[in-house]
Amino acid sequence: MNAMVYQCQNCGTRFRKWGGKCDECGAWNSITEEAPIAVQGKIKKHLSKTKADNIQFHDLVGTTVPALRLESGLGEFDRVCGGGLVQGSAILVGGDPGIGKSTLLLQVLAALSQHNQQQELVYYYISGEEGIEQIRMRARRLEISNRNILLAANNELQTILQAMDKMPKSSVLVVDSIQTLYTDALESAPGTVAQVRTCASELIRLAKQKDICLILVGHVTKEGAIAGPRVLEHMVDCVLYFEGERNHQFRILRTVKNRFGATDEIGVFEMTELGLKEVINPSALFIKDRLPIAGSCIFVGVEGTRPVLMEIQTLISPSSFGTPRRSVVGWDSSRLSMILAVLETRCQLPLGAYDIYLNVAGGLRIQEPAADLAVAAALMSSALKKAVNDKLVIFGEVGLGGEIRSVGHINARLKEAVKLGFHTSYIPTQPKGQMKEIEHLIKTKEIATLGILLKLMNNPEINL
Ligand code: TYD
Ligand code: MG
Repeated sequence: MNAMVYQCQNCGTRFRKWGGKCDECGAWNSITEEAPIAVQGKIKKHLSKTKADNIQFHDLVGTTVPALRLESGLGEFDRVCGGGLVQGSAILVGGDPGIGKSTLLLQVLAALSQHNQQQELVYYYISGEEGIEQIRMRARRLEISNRNILLAANNELQTILQAMDKMPKSSVLVVDSIQTLYTDALESAPGTVAQVRTCASELIRLAKQKDICLILVGHVTKEGAIAGPRVLEHMVDCVLYFEGERNHQFRILRTVKNRFGATDEIGVFEMTELGLKEVINPSALFIKDRLPIAGSCIFVGVEGTRPVLMEIQTLISPSSFGTPRRSVVGWDSSRLSMILAVLETRCQLPLGAYDIYLNVAGGLRIQEPAADLAVAAALMSSALKKAVNDKLVIFGEVGLGGEIRSVGHINARLKEAVKLGFHTSYIPTQPKGQMKEIEHLIKTKEIATLGILLKLMNNPEINL
C-alpha cells in the first residue's frame, strides 16, 4: 500500500511508473514521485499530537451571527464574489506572484472588519510566505490598524486546523498561500499536488463544518493554471483570478467559477502607493486614451452583470512574407479568422494578403461573440482608412452567412454608452417596440448584415 506513486503536478493524475509526459493533460516533465496520499486518520493522529502554542492568536470570544453574506463595503470585491462572502464557503484567489494578492486580501479583511463593526467577528490572515514583521509593515503602509484582524505566520496544516477549531462561527480566514502549507502526514514537499490537495481539503472540510469563510491564495504558473493542482478549482466554491500587467497600475479581479453568483464578473482596481484603490467607472478608464483614427471602434461588452466600454483596435498592413501574420491580444484568434473569412466571402473584402493586428486596449480579454460586429467594423475602418465617428458604439454577433445576430443586455449596453457621452449605436436588428425605452437617449441603427455595414462605411455622405 505504501509503494511510491508518481503524480502529474499539473492535473493531479497518478501513475504507477514515471514518464516524461502526462497522458492525461499532455504536460511535459510534470510527473514527480509522491508519497501515497495519507488517510485522514493519520492526519487526525498528528493533529492530536501537535501543540498550537507557536501560533500567535489571541484568545477568542465571538458570537454566532446568522448572516448569509458578509459584505466588505469594497464594491468591486463584493460584486465579484456575487454580493459578499458567503458563510462557510471556500474561495480560491489565483494570480501571478507580485500582482497584489496579499495586498488585496489584507485590504479586504480590513474593509470587512470596518464594514461589520457591530458584529463581533474575527478576521485571520495566516501567511506561510512572509514573516509577521513583513505583514505588519505592509499593514502599516496600507494604514490598517483594525483590532480584530489577527495575523500569524505559519505553514503547518495541523497548527492552522487547531487554530481554526477555536475560531468563532462566521469568521473569515485567509491562507496565503496554499502552496506553502504542509502536513507531516505526507512525505512530499510543500507545493506538490498531494500536499496542496490534502491541505486544501482538510481546511475546506473544517471551514464548512464551522461556517468559516476560507480564502485560499494560489500562485499561478506560466501557463496560467493555478500552480500544479487544477484539482483545487473543483474543491472550492468560488475561483477568482487577480490579473493585470505588473508594470501597469490596473488590476482586474475576475470570477472564473462561482457557486453563489455570476461568473465573468470583474472588479477593477488600481495599485497605488497606499495599496489598491477601487476603480468605480472602468468604462471611462478603458477608453480614455483613445485616438479618433481608422481601425478603432468602441464595443460595449458585458462582464458578468456589468456593461463595460472597451476599445477595439485593428491595424492592417501589406504582408511581406508568404504567410500573413495574425496577431491577437485580448480576443479569440479563431474568432478573428472567422470574421475575416466572412468579410472575404460575403462582402468581397479580401484581407488575405495583409498582416492583421487586433488589440483590445486596456488589457481586457473579451469572451463574448457580441464583439464580432465591432471587430468587423474596426477591420473595415482600417481597410478603408476611414475613422468611425468617435461617439459611436457597436455590438452584435456575426453569423457565417454575414448576418448579424442579436445579443443579450441591449438596453444595459446602450445605457452605459449614453452615460459616457456616446450618441450613436450600431446594433443587431431588434423586434418592433423593443427600443422604446432607450431610443430617445441614443440614435440606434439596426444592422442586418455585414454587407449593409460595409455599404454604410463606404458611403462618403455618411459621417460614421
Ligand atoms: P503583493 O500583494 O505582495 O503581491 P502577491 O501577494 O500577489 O505576490 O504585492 C506586491 C506588489 O505590490 C509589490 O511589487 C509592491 C506593490 N505594492 C504597491 O505598489 N503599493 C502598496 O501599497 C503595496 C502594499 C504593494
Ligand atoms: Mg503574496
